[in-house]
Amino acid sequence: MEITNVAEVVDECIQKNGNTLIPVLQDIQSHYNYLPEEIFDEVSQKMNIPLIDVYGVATFYKSFSLTPKGKHIITVCMGTACHVRGGQRIAERIARELEIEPGETTSDMNFTLETVNCLGCCAIGPIIMIDGEYYGQMTIQKAISLLNEYKAKLKEEEADDSSKS
Ligand code: FES
Repeated sequence: MEITNVAEVVDECIQKNGNTLIPVLQDIQSHYNYLPEEIFDEVSQKMNIPLIDVYGVATFYKSFSLTPKGKHIITVCMGTACHVRGGQRIAERIARELEIEPGETTSDMNFTLETVNCLGCCAIGPIIMIDGEYYGQMTIQKAISLLNEYKAKLKEEEADDSSKS
């Protein structure tokens, strides 16, 4: 993915969030889907924050990513409550379907698979989250059909894009 308009994007995010580093980085991340290398100098200079501190914050918080992520982020809960109800097998099956390991992104940049230790709603586990939306009482079959829905939507979007160009 080509990283473009770095100066403009950083300016915009600073204008919107003031001189508060975390919201600025969050905004930049939602623009590029991750924090590209190219933004760090720009943020450091424009916010007058030492480069080491900008990196420090970006690498400290797990919600920030310094590597590109897919269009859709699938997070499988591996906490105890979800694990005992089959979370592990669901994660393995999704990984197999996508041909990646947890923590990786598919080569077409459509999906990133992540695992977490608890999503905070153990009672409805096992849980997976896709792009921030929770899906409870998950089974392997439900996970696969959700995945297929997302794949179908992506295909539709691709078809739309190619018919416009
Ligand atoms: S263990 Fe999965 S939501 Fe808490």
